[in-house]
Amino acid sequence: MAKLILSCILFFTFTALFSLSNAANTINVIKYGAKPDGKTDSTQAFVKAWVAVCNSAQAVTMYVPQGRFVIRAVEFRGPCKSKINVQIDGTIVAPGDYRALGNTGNWILFIKVNRVSVNGGTLDARGAAFWNCRESGKNCPEGARSITFNWANDIKISGLTSINSQAAHVVINGCNNVMVSNLRLNAPDQSPNTDGIHVQTSTGVTITGTTIKTGDDCVSIGPGTRNLWMERIQCGPGHGVSIGSLGKDANEAGVQNITLINSAFTGSDNGLRIKSWARPTTSFVRNVVYQNIQMRNVENPIIIDQNYCPNNQNCPHQTSGVKITGVTYKNVQGTSASKVAVAFDCSPTQKCTGIKLQDVKLSYQNRDARSTCKNSGGTTSGTSMPNSCLK
Ligand SMILES: *[C@@H]1O[C@H](CO)[C@@H](O)[C@H](O)[C@H]1NC(C)=O
Repeated sequence: MAKLILSCILFFTFTALFSLSNAANTINVIKYGAKPDGKTDSTQAFVKAWVAVCNSAQAVTMYVPQGRFVIRAVEFRGPCKSKINVQIDGTIVAPGDYRALGNTGNWILFIKVNRVSVNGGTLDARGAAFWNCRESGKNCPEGARSITFNWANDIKISGLTSINSQAAHVVINGCNNVMVSNLRLNAPDQSPNTDGIHVQTSTGVTITGTTIKTGDDCVSIGPGTRNLWMERIQCGPGHGVSIGSLGKDANEAGVQNITLINSAFTGSDNGLRIKSWARPTTSFVRNVVYQNIQMRNVENPIIIDQNYCPNNQNCPHQTSGVKITGVTYKNVQGTSASKVAVAFDCSPTQKCTGIKLQDVKLSYQNRDARSTCKNSGGTTSGTSMPNSCLK
C-alpha cells in the first residue's frame, strides 16, 4: 500500500512538473508585444518571439492566440536548436496597403528550418487591391506568396486556412519530407497567379485532405520535384493540378514519381495537366499516376500541352525537349466542359511514351467527348470514353 501511495505521489509530481515545463516551453507572441486588435503592427513581436523559439534548448511551441494580428513580411530563419510547433489559433493579416509586402516575394517565410510544424490558423493576405493593380496594368510590386518554406526538412503544415493571397498561397521549395494536410486555400476564380500549393526542387512531399478554390493552379509542380503524393484534393475553381510549366530553362531538373489519388475537380479550367515550353531542355517527366479522379464540368480534364509559348516569345518554331514517359490515368470519370476531354499534344522531337489509359469515362453534355493525340504513344484498357487515340 505504502509503495502504491509513493508511486502515486511520484506519478503526480512528475505529471505536474512535466506540464509545467510544457507551459514554460510555450512562447506566446502576446508576451513579446503582439496585439490581437487587427490594427497594431505586430511584426517585431513575431520576430522576437521567433528568436526565443529558435534558441529554445527543448521542444517548443510558438503560440499565436485568437484575434487578428497584422504583420508585414517576416522571415523565420533556422537552423534552430529544437523541434518547433507553431500553433495558430488566430488570424494573421497583411497590412492594408499591399505595397507593404512590397517586393519581398514572400510574406511569411520559413527558411533553413528543420522539424517545424505549423498547425491551424488563418492567413489573410488581403490580395484584392494587389490583383486590381496588376489587372489595371499599372506598375505593381511582384507580389508576395503567403507562406513559403525554403530549404527546410521534416515539416508539417496542417489545418491552415489561407485566403486572398497576393501570389501563391503555399510554396514548398528545396525541401525534404513535408506533410501537408487539411488546408483550405481560397481566392476568387481568375485572381491572377494565386496558385494553391507550389512545389519545386523538393523530395517526399505529401499533400492530403486539402480543398483549393483559387485563381491559378490548385497545385503546381515545378522542376526538381520527386516522390510527391497527393490524396483527397478538392480542386476548383482553379487551373487544375499542373506539372509545369517545365523546360523553360535549357538546364533544368526533371519531375518524377508523382501520384494523385482519390481527388475531385469541380468547374476548374484543367484537371490533370502536364505543360512544357516549346524550347530545348534537359528536363523530363517520369512515372506519374492519376487514380480515382472525379471530374465535374472541367474544361480540359486530361491534357498534355508541350507547345506552351505565351505571346510566341522566346520559342517560336522550336519544340519541347521535355521527355514525358510513364503517365497512368486510371479510373478517371465524370464530365468535361469542352468537347475535347483528352488532349495529348506532345513534342515532335521528344514523343510521349508509356501513356496508360485505364477506365477513363468522360462525357460532354451527356454525349460523347473527343480525344486528340499528337506524338503520343501508350496503351488503353478497360472503359475508354472518349475513344482513345493513343498508338
Ligand atoms: C515514390 O514516391 C513515394 C511517395 O509518394 C515513395 O513512397 C516511393 O518510395 C517512391 N518510389 C521511388 C521508386 O522512389
